[in-house]
Amino acid sequence: MLEKNNLSKKRHLEQILPLLFFLLFGTLSCTNRDLHEKGLVTDHAMVVSAHPLASAVGADILEKGGNAIDAAVAVQFALAVVYPDAGNIGGGGFLVLRQQDGTTDALDYREEAPGAAHPAMFQNENGEVIEGLSVNGHLAAGVPGTVDGMVRAHEKYGSLPWQELVQPAIDLAAKGFPLTEKEARKFNLYRGDFIRYSSQKPNFILKNHWKEGDTLKLQDLALALERIRDNGRAGFYEGRTAELIEEEMKRGGGMITKEDLASYESVWRKPLKGNYKNYKVISMPPPSSGGIALLQLLTITEDYPVADWGLQTEKTAHLMIEAERRVYADRAEHLGDPSFYDVPVEGLLDTAYIKSRMADFTLDKATDSDAVSAGTPAPNEGPNTTHYSIIDAAGNAVSVTTTLNSSFGAKVFVAGAGFLLNNEMDDFSAKPGNPNMYGLVGGEANAIEPGKRMLSSMTPSILEKDGKLFLVVGSMGGSTIITTVYQIILNIIEHGLPAQGAINAGRFHHQWLPDWVLSEVGALGFGTGLKLWLNGHKIAPKLEGGIGRAAAILVLPDGKLEGGADPRGDDAAAGF
Ligand code: DON
Repeated sequence: MLEKNNLSKKRHLEQILPLLFFLLFGTLSCTNRDLHEKGLVTDHAMVVSAHPLASAVGADILEKGGNAIDAAVAVQFALAVVYPDAGNIGGGGFLVLRQQDGTTDALDYREEAPGAAHPAMFQNENGEVIEGLSVNGHLAAGVPGTVDGMVRAHEKYGSLPWQELVQPAIDLAAKGFPLTEKEARKFNLYRGDFIRYSSQKPNFILKNHWKEGDTLKLQDLALALERIRDNGRAGFYEGRTAELIEEEMKRGGGMITKEDLASYESVWRKPLKGNYKNYKVISMPPPSSGGIALLQLLTITEDYPVADWGLQTEKTAHLMIEAERRVYADRAEHLGDPSFYDVPVEGLLDTAYIKSRMADFTLDKATDSDAVSAGTPAPNEGPNTTHYSIIDAAGNAVSVTTTLNSSFGAKVFVAGAGFLLNNEMDDFSAKPGNPNMYGLVGGEANAIEPGKRMLSSMTPSILEKDGKLFLVVGSMGGSTIITTVYQIILNIIEHGLPAQGAINAGRFHHQWLPDWVLSEVGALGFGTGLKLWLNGHKIAPKLEGGIGRAAAILVLPDGKLEGGADPRGDDAAAGF
């Protein structure tokens, strides 16, 4: 059982702060973005991603006759150039595929702990976690999986030549592209970190103030991408790029070696499937917690009349928060890389088990998280992230969430190769019960071991309705990814919103520990917030940045596609 002592610190403050937060929150409460807004509607095919230029690259591939996997590969590499906060070749991700004939597949290209990693690598000699070590700098980086993932996805399902899919990203990096206002602001904000944590100053840092419309050229990255275009997997995991990564690690005290790179392999996994009413949910299995947690949340919700209760009402929000509290307690205890830890997947998804978790739920009182712990599912019998959604003209659907972990990952540029390394090692549990940057706790299941993949919350998902493709959805947002996807699904299915409105709607989130309901301003109006607070929920407003950034494509009853792009970022839908 996980220790909660460090999370109970300053308990007395928690009694007063909710009231203060709530008053601030209530005062600032404003209306949601337009809930009835419809996104771009197209007849045949659609890409929704975090950047208009990446969406345009993907739509162009689809128009040339490429399939959804071709477009996914091209979008992944384009995002590595135009959206380096999270788009990447130095990170990893998960891809869920549903082909037009209904067959499904899932690719795990998550990063791995380097061979020299060990459970106490982020602790000092007294066993205390060293703050920041798993977040910034060279030790924070796991062995990247993205390039191998794209190569494997293309080998198995691609139709256009590999070179054609990498080339648009090379063109963007070599010729340059205009910065959006948000990206310019972030470069300025993170400039100090890039200089501090990269062993050599990346070229584009020579300019010390970026503004909207400035052209950014990334010559070293263009060359690294050319090696990938020309040599595929070997263009990254061997040769010049592998050497540059190893040299960067040696200069910065990191662990990744050429051997770690050479032995990295992404893994095809069986997608998780479950039902919500007459919808089938297809999502990512471990090492992501996303699929299991989403299915647990939906299974709990199924028994309650949330459509009658209404969107963002006190009853609906209370149920969702209480479900989230219990599901995240299970996540902390039972989930990790299945190659290293026997994750009780079937037990966790057993309907009777899931429903038993709500036995102490009442409609009028918040449960204290200290009174909730992980359940005991039946054991196994045998042994700044970004999401993009794609549907091609044939009806194949791809849902991809990919990440460096936090914005710009470890803030370490690989000198001479121009790309950033992830800080995914922070997704491991650095010590049982010690919260990571998202406040998530974990234990043995997610302890660091060489070659192990860190637990993720990424939830790339695809839904069918009555056996037909219905929705492609996913989000960024660390621990809030799962609850963001959960809310969007309910907003569409239960509250009848279009994809765009469902994404616009304000979001709230609970993750068991810390025992707070994090809420976007306006997601819970004053009245709802007050009732929840009176029932014992502690509400903290998310004042900046919002919760999650989602990308969804909804198949409309007439077969057209509606793209929902998140107004919290520069996200854009494109298609034809
Ligand atoms: O895999 C995970 O769960 C995290 N590394 C995701 C990070 C993320 O979404 C960052 N965005 N805020």
